[in-house]
Amino acid sequence: TQSTVRLINHLDRDYLRQALETDVRNGLTATPKWLPPKWFYDARGSELFSEITRLPEYYPTRRELTILRARAKDLAAAGRADTLVELGSGTSEKTVLLLDALAAAGTLRGYTPVDVDAVTLESAARRLAARYPGLAVQAVCADFERHLALLPRDGRRMVAFLGGTIGNLEPGARAAFLAGLRKTLRPGETFLLGADLVKDTGRLVAAYDDAAGVTAEFNRNVLRVINRELDADFEPESFAHVARYDGEHDWIEMRLRATRAMRVRVGGLGLSVDFAEGEEMRTEISAKFRLEGLRAELETAGFTPLRDHTDPAGDFALLLAGA
Ligand code: AVJ
Repeated sequence: TQSTVRLINHLDRDYLRQALETDVRNGLTATPKWLPPKWFYDARGSELFSEITRLPEYYPTRRELTILRARAKDLAAAGRADTLVELGSGTSEKTVLLLDALAAAGTLRGYTPVDVDAVTLESAARRLAARYPGLAVQAVCADFERHLALLPRDGRRMVAFLGGTIGNLEPGARAAFLAGLRKTLRPGETFLLGADLVKDTGRLVAAYDDAAGVTAEFNRNVLRVINRELDADFEPESFAHVARYDGEHDWIEMRLRATRAMRVRVGGLGLSVDFAEGEEMRTEISAKFRLEGLRAELETAGFTPLRDHTDPAGDFALLLAGA
């Protein structure tokens, strides 16, 4: 039986440009300056993130894999889903464990990866279609914060949001996201959430400031994206990578620090932006969680927490919740 691949794009060039323009204008004219993390992920940014997941300091991906290896079968059985929807799917490397478990349970029919990077999305969709005969793949290029209501509703779904990407959302946006997702699900459908847990600050900071400098390159990639898409003249080499743990909010902050005073021109916006020497611009938060807190957030959003699993080291958690 032939698999099918359908590509659905909610991020056409016009939309992408509009969204990027708005975000860059808002972020670069704010005090302090900031940029949203979704713009890291062009083809090169996705590749750099893949490289990050293989670094010795970056534990989340390996820990989540450990949990999935031990629990994918139980999770598949508990969710009884026939369709896996994956938000922020990227290269879909960990997904195979869930798809294998659903296939073994005999229920698997569809896979719907959702990602902002069309290149990575399409190649992952084709790879998985080839691996599972008869699989109906609907690859959706979309922003999971804005297009939840447009996701395909076929089948009995398990929505997976892995890797700790939930941590990129600030508390208010996170609550809105969870409530919005809950509203799109029908009774019996499930949500599988991967979240990084609060731990020793030294290990957290090292995970976001690796010795090989891959995370630094990933961080600076957002400047390359803006240069290319909005005709800007950022000099990425003039920005230093900064990773700090904010123990009050329980999140890692990545920033780019201007190593000298400079004026940056964003041609596509008709905008000039001044940076003082040492000025820091926030490019990402990556929140770290406690299980009880996360369960409570899921309940507030209208989900019923069903089970949670951590790896033996207690570094990372997977939570399954019912709609
Ligand atoms: C892809 C959002 C899960 O927050 O750990 C990795 C991105 N940033 N290193 C994370 C990231 C710096 C990553 N997520």
